[in-house]
Amino acid sequence: MNILGIETSCDETAAAVVCSPCDVRSNIIATQIASHIPYGGVVPELAAREHVTALPAVLEAAVRESGVEWNELDAIAVTRGPGLSSSLLSGLSAAWGLSRRLDIPCLPIHHLEGHLLSFFLEREDVGDVLPSLVLLVTGGHSALIRLIAPGDYELLGRSIDDAAGEALDKGARLLDLPYPGGPEIEQLAKQGNPDAIEFPLGLPKSEEAKKRGGRVPLSFSGLKTSLRYKLQGSPEMAHADVAASFQKAVMKTLTGAVSEGLTKCPEVKSIACVGGVAKNQELRSRLEKTAHDAGIPLCTVPMAYCTDNAAMIANVAQLCSVPAMESPLGAAPNLELSGMKLR
Ligand code: KG4
Ligand code: ZN
Repeated sequence: MNILGIETSCDETAAAVVCSPCDVRSNIIATQIASHIPYGGVVPELAAREHVTALPAVLEAAVRESGVEWNELDAIAVTRGPGLSSSLLSGLSAAWGLSRRLDIPCLPIHHLEGHLLSFFLEREDVGDVLPSLVLLVTGGHSALIRLIAPGDYELLGRSIDDAAGEALDKGARLLDLPYPGGPEIEQLAKQGNPDAIEFPLGLPKSEEAKKRGGRVPLSFSGLKTSLRYKLQGSPEMAHADVAASFQKAVMKTLTGAVSEGLTKCPEVKSIACVGGVAKNQELRSRLEKTAHDAGIPLCTVPMAYCTDNAAMIANVAQLCSVPAMESPLGAAPNLELSGMKLR
């Protein structure tokens, strides 16, 4: 199937044509970061307007570059949520309009399922690496999921408060670094000493936390608060040391959760990491070590499919049977990341 994917859940306007998980024909991403930098974060109204402006050219480029003709498209897959509602609406309206014009189905996709199944993109060895223990780390969510097959997932744990990416973004703000914070902290950390400052690790053990976060709960708000107090207490600290120590605490917390996840499901054949934070080299090398110690491979996703993109959205439609929307807003999928089914 030739599927056109559209993703506008936050601040990237993205479109892609995917003919199979190993055949991504185009993956166009127009980022709005420069427009949001003066405000220190994404401004929803501005994001929605920029999506509307960027979508025609992004869609045109995705189809042109793919070599697939408009009339050869079989379906349009579009992010239905979670995300900023006005931004989502821009993509949904474009997808619905196009699907009516081309007389093809419009398929609503769960953004996090897009990240989760990005695992399959350009991967030939799927039979050897499933089930996989997947760390899903984005700006809005941090979760540990046992991926058995497309559509078959078990949520092992999630953050009970902030997401890892959110902690990096908020931490960067405290360090006067621009948005998005993850890559900025990673850059600055290269010049710092990761052992300079001790931060608390966010692996709450209390029963209450376990009830809220699942079997392997994660937490990042304490870490962020600790950063604030440390900066207030010793403003003279070298920011590079702070960035390196803070990044180490976030990545150690995530790796600790993966190690705990491994004890709950020792049968997994691989560890994987997906989402924007999966671009982080420190996280990758820590997970590499965890996987090596467990005698299984670490499956990473190509960088272009870690942060928000539309190939991962079209890919879900390739792998799962998604019921078509019957109206522009369709039935909202279950957006609560809990239980066995993410959709
Ligand atoms: O998956 P994504 O593009 O969007 C969401 O669905 O949220 O993830 C964005 C997040 C941001 O918090 C950003 O700071 C983080 O991914 N990020 C990184 C890196 N690149 C992006 N975090 C750590 N290291 C990076 N290199
Ligand atoms: Zn995302």
